Amino acid sequence: MLNIPECIKTQINDVPCTCDDIGLSGSTILLFPDKVLKIQEHSEEAVHELRAMEWLQGRIAVPKVLAHAYAEGKSYLLMSKMKGRMACSEYYLEHFRLLVEILARALEKLWEVPISDCPLDCSLDQKLRAAEFRVTHNLVDCSLVEPETFGPGGFQNPQELLQWLKDHRPEEEPVLSHGDFCLPNLFVQEDGSVSFIDLGRCGAADKWQDLALCFRSLRWNSQGEYGGKIYPENDPLLLFKKLGMEPDREKLRYYTLLDELF
Ligand SMILES: Nc1ncnc2c1ncn2[C@@H]1O[C@H](COP(=O)(O)OP(=O)(O)O)[C@@H](O)[C@H]1O
Ligand SMILES: [Mg+2]
Repeated sequence: MLNIPECIKTQINDVPCTCDDIGLSGSTILLFPDKVLKIQEHSEEAVHELRAMEWLQGRIAVPKVLAHAYAEGKSYLLMSKMKGRMACSEYYLEHFRLLVEILARALEKLWEVPISDCPLDCSLDQKLRAAEFRVTHNLVDCSLVEPETFGPGGFQNPQELLQWLKDHRPEEEPVLSHGDFCLPNLFVQEDGSVSFIDLGRCGAADKWQDLALCFRSLRWNSQGEYGGKIYPENDPLLLFKKLGMEPDREKLRYYTLLDELF
């Protein structure tokens, strides 16, 4: 059973909750009427998420930290519950042009945030160091990757992929990056603005980190990868049209491959 620390227990009392199973990271999420408790392994990413949530207050829409504690190797983060509709909801997948417009504006909002005083370093140096740690400690879950990443025609193993990533570093265009810009981490408000959750990789990083994961998430969610409906008419390339940019296929591939190690 969960051994919830006292400082958090006092805030949730006996309020009934439901358990959310949307995330892929193995965290446990308890949803209360207006609060959320995220329980995850005590890791660098869990510490980063807490720091990010605090630094981002007043800069972009993120949950408020209500309490946090570390106990028995776990991190407990009690935060406010985000309102709005998740970007991966059927409604938005059926209104794809609207969804892509909303995501493009959300990305631009992130890019407008000044990062000269941002203490959250998610640069490639840092990401490759974290990837190296994961590879050497066998923490990469090869069952959650694109089928072509490893095996015939792809990389032999995570070590080979890591070496390739080190040898093919793109030039970085640093912006405020969410770090895991995928649809279940984005809540759309009634006015079309976006609130962000799951901030363990949020910080100053290359623009193409978020573009790549957003593009992949639009593709996966439209192709029914998560057991949902298939929307063959949804074209993820629309994202770049809405942003007035050309898709840089090499950078999209690079950051999608980098994410395979997380
Ligand atoms: N503050 C929050 N407000 C509303 N829902 C949340 C909040 N935090 C988490 N959730 C729900 O729990 C899911 C998983 O949480 P998340 O922080 O994304 O963890 P993971 O790292 O497992 O993806 C989210 O996709 C969302 O449905
Ligand atoms: Mg998530």
